Amino acid sequence: MDITWDMFVETEVPKDELIISRTDLNGIITYANETFAHISGYEPEELIGKPHNILRHPDMPKRVFKELWDTIKAGNIWSGYVKNMRKDRGYYWVYAEVSGVYKNGKLVEYKSMRSWVPKEKRIEMQNLYDKIRLEDRENVRGVSYLDVDTYEKFIQKSQELGISPEKLLKNLLEK
Ligand SMILES: Cc1cc2nc3c(=O)[nH]c(=O)nc-3n(C[C@H](O)[C@H](O)[C@H](O)COP(=O)(O)O)c2cc1C
Repeated sequence: MDITWDMFVETEVPKDELIISRTDLNGIITYANETFAHISGYEPEELIGKPHNILRHPDMPKRVFKELWDTIKAGNIWSGYVKNMRKDRGYYWVYAEVSGVYKNGKLVEYKSMRSWVPKEKRIEMQNLYDKIRLEDRENVRGVSYLDVDTYEKFIQKSQELGISPEKLLKNLLEK
């Protein structure tokens, strides 16, 4: 992770559109509709052949995806709220339904349909996922306002040392 602004920009999924994708059994994208490409900021050709975690946002708790995979592998439909990261590192929230595609009773692929999430729900889920990541000791997101001189000193120092700003912060705290 690094110092960022672009990650705070939200894209809203249009209420009347569905994001559709299919993956092979390993989660590699095999199909993406126009809306998927449009909302994620990728070209459809860029998405096909890539693992679905190309969209993974650091705010998503690991246990949500574990539950997703456990559910669909067991032959059930998983539904839930997902915060995804766009190509430009902005984000968008979706309500997703993920399930298996069966041919002659045999599991051949997975499919996902995603749609708009009301603003209140997005806030609720952000708070819940923040809590879960803390509980699971994964990562914490924070915002800090620094005066520009301090900020520039901080960035310069981390560049001099060739380490990330987080690593510098850790080093300073451990001193
Ligand atoms: C059909 C299907 C759709 C998926 N959609 C998403 C998605 O929109 N965003 C996402 O982060 N992961 C999605 N996943 C889960 C990813 O495959 C992956 O498990 C997740 O991004 C976490 O990454 P990791 O498994 O590398 O930790 C989807 C999986 C399947 C099978």
